[in-house]
Amino acid sequence: MQCGIEVWAYKGLSNNLAFKVPDAYIIVKKICFVLQIQLAVTYMNNLKIPASGHSFGAQYYSPQKTIIMDQMNDLKALLKHDVQMLVSVEDQIIKALPAMIKRATSQQLKKALDEHLNITKRQRLRLDQINQLMSASEEDVTKYSGVLANLMGGTKCKGMDGIIDEGEKIMAENLSDEVMDAAIIGACQKVEHFEIASYGTARTYAQELGLTQVAQLLQQTLDEEYMADQELTSLAEQRINQRAMSGSSMPDSMTM
Ligand SMILES: [Fe+2]
Repeated sequence: MQCGIEVWAYKGLSNNLAFKVPDAYIIVKKICFVLQIQLAVTYMNNLKIPASGHSFGAQYYSPQKTIIMDQMNDLKALLKHDVQMLVSVEDQIIKALPAMIKRATSQQLKKALDEHLNITKRQRLRLDQINQLMSASEEDVTKYSGVLANLMGGTKCKGMDGIIDEGEKIMAENLSDEVMDAAIIGACQKVEHFEIASYGTARTYAQELGLTQVAQLLQQTLDEEYMADQELTSLAEQRINQRAMSGSSMPDSMTM
């Protein structure tokens, strides 16, 4: 039988996994999650009667504490799963970016994507470092049942696979250079937003679990993703979308 907090926690986590809410909302949900746990601990402390061990309070204390510990263990398993998915995300981006760089016509866009490819390769190595810190073990993965067991099976992030697939379909179309550049920027920003949501969620899990070094490494990549997104927005707003709307084919040097 699940207590109310457990049901609430799973509901919150499943909402996060849908990636349909802004990062800030996810953080608020996590804060609420921690507050719920702190509130439950306060209740348990109030109920605990340190006498014979057969009191009403003592009967309730151990099961409640076990539930909370199980929740934190589940959260760690969920973080491990999310890190594995981020490995898949970065691998897919590293594989997809060269074609986007080749298809882009703006030299400024080509340069930005090329730089981000190098950053992505470093982010992929950072995930190896995170995995080592977390020292994932097979026992942790195999003991889960139900929803978490379903999460643990996959090795490829289908969300990123879909976003990249959509981008590749657009790149296969016969578009003008300007519109193609705008489409590539749009596709890359979808990638960045997915990464921002994913890294933001994983970073918050690590913070909740007290995994400070892991949280710092995830934050480092999250900051890089925000910067990449801002650079793409700048490219789209300042130059490329304007050229697409006007239908002009002015060289880069004339639009600066
Ligand atoms: Fe990345």
